[in-house]
Amino acid sequence: MDINQLVEEMTLEEKAALLSGTEFWKTNPIPRLAIPSIFLSDGPHGLRKQSEGADHLGLYDSEPATSFPTAVTVASSWNTDNLRKMGEAIAEECLHYGASVLLGPGINIKRNPLCGRNFEYYSEDPFLTGELAVHFINGVQSKGIGTSVKHFAANNSENYRFMGDSIVDERAFREIYLRAFERVVKEAKPATIMSAYNKINGTYCSESKYLLNDILREQWGFEGVVVSDWGGVADRVAAVEAGLDLEMPGDTWEFRKMVIKSLENGSLAEETVDKALRNILHLVKKSSELSFGTPFNKKQHANLACEIAKDSAVLLKNEDVLPLNKQESVLVVGDLFEKMRYQGAGSSLINPSSLITPKKAFDEMQVNYSFENGYRESEESSDQELMARAVEAAGSADTILFFGGLTDYAESEGTDRATMKLPTNQLELLSKLSATGKKIIVILFGGSPVELPFYDDVHAILNMYLPGQHGGEAAAALIFGDATPSGKLAETWPMEYQDVPFGGDYSKNEHELYQESIFVGYRYYDQAEKEVRFPFGFGKSYTTFSYSNLVVEEMGSKIKVTCDITNTGNVDGAEVVQLYVKNNQSDIFKAKKELRAFDKVYLKVGETKKATMTFSRTDLSYYNIDLKEWVLENGLYVIEVGESSDIIHLRDNFLIDGEKEVDSPYNLENLRAYYHVDRNFDVTPVQFEGLLGYKVPPLPAKTPIGLETRLSHYNETFLGRRLYTSILGVANRQYKQALKLPDGIEKEAKKKNAVFLMNILQSNSARTLAAASAGRVPLHIAKGFVALANGQVMDALKMMLKKEKTIPLPKASSTTQKSD
Ligand code: BGC
Repeated sequence: MDINQLVEEMTLEEKAALLSGTEFWKTNPIPRLAIPSIFLSDGPHGLRKQSEGADHLGLYDSEPATSFPTAVTVASSWNTDNLRKMGEAIAEECLHYGASVLLGPGINIKRNPLCGRNFEYYSEDPFLTGELAVHFINGVQSKGIGTSVKHFAANNSENYRFMGDSIVDERAFREIYLRAFERVVKEAKPATIMSAYNKINGTYCSESKYLLNDILREQWGFEGVVVSDWGGVADRVAAVEAGLDLEMPGDTWEFRKMVIKSLENGSLAEETVDKALRNILHLVKKSSELSFGTPFNKKQHANLACEIAKDSAVLLKNEDVLPLNKQESVLVVGDLFEKMRYQGAGSSLINPSSLITPKKAFDEMQVNYSFENGYRESEESSDQELMARAVEAAGSADTILFFGGLTDYAESEGTDRATMKLPTNQLELLSKLSATGKKIIVILFGGSPVELPFYDDVHAILNMYLPGQHGGEAAAALIFGDATPSGKLAETWPMEYQDVPFGGDYSKNEHELYQESIFVGYRYYDQAEKEVRFPFGFGKSYTTFSYSNLVVEEMGSKIKVTCDITNTGNVDGAEVVQLYVKNNQSDIFKAKKELRAFDKVYLKVGETKKATMTFSRTDLSYYNIDLKEWVLENGLYVIEVGESSDIIHLRDNFLIDGEKEVDSPYNLENLRAYYHVDRNFDVTPVQFEGLLGYKVPPLPAKTPIGLETRLSHYNETFLGRRLYTSILGVANRQYKQALKLPDGIEKEAKKKNAVFLMNILQSNSARTLAAASAGRVPLHIAKGFVALANGQVMDALKMMLKKEKTIPLPKASSTTQKSD
């Protein structure tokens, strides 16, 4: 394939076609020039390759594939081998099913525990996120499959993701939100990057030349394809000019028309389009060299998913009650025992190749147990009869294993959680069970932290997160001591939601103000000395470890740190050794300490091994907003090595000197709140705007309704309300139909889909509905909706009935189609 030659030979229609996707998941083929189409597919915790009905919501079925533990889970293993192996295995499934690009990993930072997509992201810490993502991408790409690192950038909330503006200061943007992206671009060279739906400081990511060209390509040297998120393009011409190559899902003929018109009238330079085409053609060329249809070992992949789940689970509390003895009789309570939640809802939903729930695992292991559902996972309120039965059974039990957590109704893509609490029915039941005074062990499932008001009343808590399709087998192995928990939290668990900085403002409207700046997660709790439920890096084991012999070696630009770790307990286990660096002599505001390296060490009883951790001196730099570059400050740096961010066992210092002295870009007086972060963290608008460097504009007016208005705001006008009700009617009807089905898996799945659809519909705008519909809702119909909602009935009719000449795709016949 001679790429330059092909670009030269292409007609404008062909060029516009190749700049966009088709049939939801494919690039456009150009048969005249023998350019094939390639398939891009979700993930990322397994392959979601849809064959028939296509959507980006996880509603239609996909080919059976291994459902691996989701990002939050595997991140808690702190084991980069897991990421690599999982990446390789998923790539083998891509090869089998014919997908050239896997849409993942998701590497956004967990800024707030309520983000509906936290289960799809690794951590609150950019270093840990970057390190894990590099290994995942390397694993996938080692088999020739491309990755699509998403969602670039500052996409940290869901409610307003389609039109929201992430208002963030440049330093936090670089140090927290871009850092992992920078690392993976430089070290793992992902084939593609997916631009996020949202705006950053007023500009849609898909139209930001600063983000897509200046930072991504010029500063970081990215050479792959920038793909839009599905429906994430507002102005196709502005997007291509900014550096967005491929618009997905495509089949939006209006966008192709805009591109052709702008090329014809010269307002869009052909070279700009050609550059994007060359990027896309490089990917098509590479992908067309792959051989598809190769078999993969289903059993091996399922076993790998199980091993990773075991290595990732986090033991949050244990008063010497775990592990249990298989012969001991236990009372199991909780619907999630049978209906394990093992993956998140939305575009990452996988059709698992096999499923082992805890119930199945207990039965196979012949555990001596009796079972009560206790609550219904599909409900929020208690079922009095189920609850009473469980409480009665508890009366004659010694040990109660409670299976609970966040259900698909409580957490999903497309919407942020309204609360950090567990569903009411579970809380009520737990409080009744604990009143019996019996030994209670809680096994938690879910993708994000929850409040644990029952913490003091239970004897152990094992957090499985979302453990993938064999999560039940993993849970059973850990509960009965066939495996030792060794996961550590990759995120802080606050005591209560009210402890989260600026939590009250989170995801409430189109403006997401990143007022905490760099103080995200432990960087805040540490500095404010706020008590948390579990600190970053926390996790217990069935064994104990000792730390000794810290050695710090300066090796040119690198610093190598080693120490000895000994398993001092009675069972084999693994310890995640964490290295934090402090530099508090600075005259700029900084976090108290930051994670710079880690090593997971597996140890037999009595064994000692060396943990080795290396980082670069430049990793310690901060981003100077005046100079627009990273600056390494002279001074004394403290190395702290420990088992979590708050339990440090070994310390040493090293000095950095001889670096160029640079003035602080900040005025201490104007930014007091950032220099003295405390429990109140009282950032005034003036301070935030001082840090930001501009005045936060007013929120967009709710009326008149525009193409970018959130559909839920259509309620503001009379006709808008009717339109909104009829759009939501689609989901309502689906829900009612689901309720009529007999009890069972199909009913549950259909109910969940309807709820998910309802949430997603509310948060769209007319423009995103059209752009994500793959041609089903043409843009002129969406414009008609807007006019109608504003009461302009005649204009609306004109727009909707307008006969427009569509632009045929090269793959279709050359006759012009009429839109209707
Ligand atoms: C999600 C992406 C996903 C895409 C395709 C979007 O709504 O944000 O993460 O890859 O759909 O399903």
